[in-house]
Amino acid sequence: MSRSAHPAGPRHADVYTEGHYSAPAEDLNTLDEKVWARTVGRNADGVVTVGGIEVTRLAEEFGTPAYFLDEDDFRARCRAWADAFGRDADVFYAGKAFLSRAVVKWLREEGLNLDVCSGGELATALAAGMPAERIAFHGNNKTAEEIERAVEAGVGRIVLDSFQEIVRVAHIAQSHGVRQPVQIRVTVGVEAHTHEFIATAHEDQKFGIALADGQAAEAVRRALKLDGLELIGIHSHIGSQIFDMAGFEVSARRVVQLLAEVRDEHGVELPEIDLGGGLGIAYTSEDDPREPQEIAKALGEIVSRECEAAGLATPRISVEPGRAIVGPTAFTLYEVGTIKPLEGLRTYVSVDGGMSDNIRTALYDAEYSVALVSRTSTAEPMLARVVGKHCESGDIVVKDAFLPADLAPGDLVAVPATGAYCRAMASNYNHALRPPVVAVRDGEARVIVRRETEEDLLRLDVG
Ligand code: LLP
Repeated sequence: MSRSAHPAGPRHADVYTEGHYSAPAEDLNTLDEKVWARTVGRNADGVVTVGGIEVTRLAEEFGTPAYFLDEDDFRARCRAWADAFGRDADVFYAGKAFLSRAVVKWLREEGLNLDVCSGGELATALAAGMPAERIAFHGNNKTAEEIERAVEAGVGRIVLDSFQEIVRVAHIAQSHGVRQPVQIRVTVGVEAHTHEFIATAHEDQKFGIALADGQAAEAVRRALKLDGLELIGIHSHIGSQIFDMAGFEVSARRVVQLLAEVRDEHGVELPEIDLGGGLGIAYTSEDDPREPQEIAKALGEIVSRECEAAGLATPRISVEPGRAIVGPTAFTLYEVGTIKPLEGLRTYVSVDGGMSDNIRTALYDAEYSVALVSRTSTAEPMLARVVGKHCESGDIVVKDAFLPADLAPGDLVAVPATGAYCRAMASNYNHALRPPVVAVRDGEARVIVRRETEEDLLRLDVG
């Protein structure tokens, strides 16, 4: 990166040659549509709008920090996934990315299914009227109570994750006099190119049953013997925020191999395979995510080809995108509180939220973008680190980004692509009050998850 390419003053010259960040955009007022929700734009006054509403108005009405979710974008993404996979496949939205009653309603209306991974998610899904047969229940350590509730509700499938669980689910199903449809989650031994904490297909980790050493084949053997279980397929999820299709292809191939082994040994063709979620989204302009159409085509082709080679009928495919549906649909709106220029380093911009509303930067070294959204600016770019108000220096929201040098307290900044795993992983650290999620559509904004209050905090504190 050459120094002359940077319009900022000499104050930043040294760090320009060392940073991981990209050069400032030509114009900091331009919003890259790759990272912003579909209806986001700037109005004639330079104020950013979503669903036709100015962020300044939203901040006044709902306060900051807050997540604003573009409902049209969410629904469009659901439809894009459903259309891409078509009638011979099922799309399960992964509720762990972000779940609320409104989300369940949108999924229901747009024809998607739902993957839940805890009793709490299951309760939300059922409370919001998701038909139980459209729910898949996941988790590496479901409690007996959770399994009971899922079986009683009649969930469409339980994804078995261990040898103990095979027996537990069979036992509970039998005591309810039902045959519970189940899949077995396998680890296919793929190293997905993503952060270690969110990679899940290599063998040295807690999820699934390894294909290696015949473990998965043994799990199938046991499941087929138990009256309480109806084994409908094999499941594999290789990780999250992945751009490279190669891992999915290897995974699909190995899962099909297992189906062929099962057919050879038991004379049974399992009718379904689930290839999990994990498709990456754009957090910054550098990221190039794939469209659902392309993903569906690639997965469909590989499964058909492998099945044909093995003499198997092509099974029904399912996928479980979470981030790819909700991630790009929301941004977090913050107000700038304090600004500290550190000579020769960068400027620290403190906002009114932080690691309690977005832990991803601290936890995974995640990269985000940020923009001044309450006005435009023609000031030169300054290298900024957007930090929160929590009591630790790792409380970083955006590690390195360019913001206009005339940024001032009271300005509103927004961080795009925070729809997934931000509100879902939010905490009360330092007794922060978790921000609301506001859905915006056609000039109307409506709270779908309200802001926490101090009363909420004190209600739990019964001492
Ligand atoms: N299916 C299964 C079985 C999963 O475990 C996950 C995510 C998904 C689907 C959805 O993956 P997605 O399409 O959203 O990538 N907290 C981390 C992500 C953890 C993902 C856990 N499992 C993050 O913020 O990056």
